[in-house]
Amino acid sequence: MSFPLITHIEAERIALRPVAATDLPALLAINGDPQVTQFLPYATWSSLDDGAAWLARMEALGATGTGQQLVVVRRADVAVIGTLLLFKHDAGSQRLELGYVLGRAHWGQGLMREALQAVCSQLFGTLGVRRIEAEVNPANVASCRLLARVGFTLEGTLRQRWVGKGITYDTQVFGCLSHEWPQGAGAITPAPG
Ligand SMILES: CC(C)(COP(=O)(O)OP(=O)(O)OC[C@H]1O[C@@H](n2cnc3c(N)ncnc32)[C@H](O)[C@@H]1OP(=O)(O)O)[C@@H](O)C(=O)NCCC(=O)NCCS
Repeated sequence: MSFPLITHIEAERIALRPVAATDLPALLAINGDPQVTQFLPYATWSSLDDGAAWLARMEALGATGTGQQLVVVRRADVAVIGTLLLFKHDAGSQRLELGYVLGRAHWGQGLMREALQAVCSQLFGTLGVRRIEAEVNPANVASCRLLARVGFTLEGTLRQRWVGKGITYDTQVFGCLSHEWPQGAGAITPAPG
């Protein structure tokens, strides 16, 4: 199975589409906030050059055929409010990993829950993925709660797995299997064409 590329997904309040260079100013506002990047594996952006370097890494990842960087768009005003990364796609095992980021002004409104439900529905439903996983620092309470709320299972803790920003930390592994996914969750509408 080749990487299940996503062109466009719409949910109630948000939509998802592949990232573009024109998104970088909006993404700088998001990733330039140290509270947003606290648990992320990259430094807080300080300029559009940091964004361009990040985009080059995402494009290189896309070129390997194992990942795709999407952006989360608020449908009401088409503003880019976050990102959602599909990566480590393993074709033989029909498995991939998720990473996600939302601008701080948009936290706590269930918007990333909507995004994850929509993406997972499409990955499990029409794109044939069998297992989706995510790694989270246990101190990132919002992210752990988000995954549990969407239907992921906490499968275990990997001790002192990462060193980031000068701190050594454990990681919690969450997983969801296609047969566990509630049918119809996410109410997605793939765009025509
Ligand atoms: C993690 C993140 C995407 C959550 O997105 P969100 O749209 O705010 O998530 P939701 O509104 O669906 O909230 C998810 C759950 O976390 C809870 N929550 C939100 N912020 C919280 C906080 N600061 N502390 C504790 N719980 C929190 C919510 O109440 C909700 O739990 P519930 O469904 O049991 O009520 C967002 O906080 C974020 O972008 N953080 C910075 C980037 C990041 O850490 N990404 C994840 C890396 S693994």
